[in-house]
Amino acid sequence: MRHHDIAVIPGDGIGTEVMPEALRVLEAVGARHGIRFGLRHFDWSCETYKRTGRMMPEDGIDQLRDHDAILLGAVGAPGVPDHVSLWGLLIPIRREFDQYVNLRPVRLLPGITPPLRDVGPGDIDFWVVRENTEGEYSQLGGRQAEGTPSEMVLQVAAFTRRGTDRILRYAFDFARRLGRSHVTSATKSNGIFHSMPYWDERFRAIAAEYPGIEADQYHIDILCARFVMSPQRFDVVVGSNLFGDILSDLGPGVTGTIAVAPSGNINPEREHPSMFEPVHGSAPDIMGKGIANPIGQIWSAAMMLDHLGEEQAAADVMRAIETVLGSGDAPLTPDLGGTAATSDLGAAIASAI
Ligand code: NAD
Ligand code: IPM
Ligand code: MN
Repeated sequence: MRHHDIAVIPGDGIGTEVMPEALRVLEAVGARHGIRFGLRHFDWSCETYKRTGRMMPEDGIDQLRDHDAILLGAVGAPGVPDHVSLWGLLIPIRREFDQYVNLRPVRLLPGITPPLRDVGPGDIDFWVVRENTEGEYSQLGGRQAEGTPSEMVLQVAAFTRRGTDRILRYAFDFARRLGRSHVTSATKSNGIFHSMPYWDERFRAIAAEYPGIEADQYHIDILCARFVMSPQRFDVVVGSNLFGDILSDLGPGVTGTIAVAPSGNINPEREHPSMFEPVHGSAPDIMGKGIANPIGQIWSAAMMLDHLGEEQAAADVMRAIETVLGSGDAPLTPDLGGTAATSDLGAAIASAI
């Protein structure tokens, strides 16, 4: 029997509601494929913060270090400022474990009605490759002349040669691995003076190493419009931390719901554990009602299985999701137009394994 040690962090809000469904599906697929999961649960959350003044213990990163992967729900709750909760848990994990790739598939699943006319399952199927450790998400800068009329805040975006090249190269390698012909870069070099012309320069240099792959770039503003007008044309879209964040909600939004979208925060060199989590957040507006869609969390678990080398198990989970959604009588949660509970949809997917 194969064994994988997984750190489980449900986090806040609906994170605690969708996580049990992902674990239920993992148990079902593990039984079928002879995989045993050593699950270690961590209750790190905004509740922990309110109790202890920290989102995770001081040695939290070390406690996670020896796991094969981390499965995370969502972080953030009313009463704790988002920059405190996120910079106290999610972002340190991404950085300390050098999870510099945030891989976010955008796929129109069967049984989901997209807001767009004339697109069906299979038509929208691309990947956002988001830089995940630097760029606009930096701690550089600060507030000056606080409380005076000259008060000013500076937020410095940092693009290193190493950080830029490695995400661009990952995007091209990933496209090649998938057999996709097209890498699109999100830029804004007409308006952002230093970082984006640099990003473009590196994109052109890396693209030249991959003559078989078509490389193009769009400014982020028109790229957003193209995501809506012609989402069919994309294969792999690579963007900086902030652009990638925005595009990876826009893409799933165009497929009908962000609640199914998964992500992998990947350390490709496998020197550290990678972390898998839905794209969505803790959804305080629906928390406690038991109606959150668990598919983003379940699909994230499938991405984790794939990363762990359990490709067959991962494919089974995806097939189960698609079978249930495509069945015509799936227990759909309200975001998909149904009235089912989180656990109904989770149970249906687990039993389809
Ligand atoms: P959100 O993703 O939590 O919610 C946006 C909207 O989508 C809400 O109306 C919500 O009800 C709905 N939604 C999200 N997931 C759903 C699901 N599984 N099923 C059904 N509906 C779902 O984004 P937000 O409102 O901007 O943020 C809420 C909190 O979550 C904030 O504290 C934010 O910082 C945090 N957040 C955390 C993460 C993360 O942990 N990775 C990601 C995004 C936001
Ligand atoms: C995401 C989230 C996070 C991000 C926030 C909560 C810090 O939006 O994972 O997409 O911006 O990375
Ligand atoms: Mn986001």
